[in-house]
Amino acid sequence: MPAEKSTICFSLVYKGQDYRVHTYRNQYYSVMTLIADHLAIDGFGICCGMGSCGTCRVNIREHHSPAARSVLACDLRVDDSLSHCTIEIPANLYTY
Ligand code: FES
Repeated sequence: MPAEKSTICFSLVYKGQDYRVHTYRNQYYSVMTLIADHLAIDGFGICCGMGSCGTCRVNIREHHSPAARSVLACDLRVDDSLSHCTIEIPANLYTY
């Protein structure tokens, strides 16, 4: 019997715009691939998720938490723990 598909909803914030994301567990390999699929950001995720470039760094704030933590989006799996989180993509980290 296939696993139930539950919707995962969270906010993606980039350059002051708040994008509501509705996805499913394992629909994307990581949050980095999800972001790359939704937003065209020059220089974001240039090592394609190998964990070596640091250009996919985002700030994630969990629901009801005032503090954000900085993580690599390619290390962040798309699962239920993202529900109601806010993920902010820094606007000016990707210029070389
Ligand atoms: S894509 Fe390079 S560190 Fe995440």
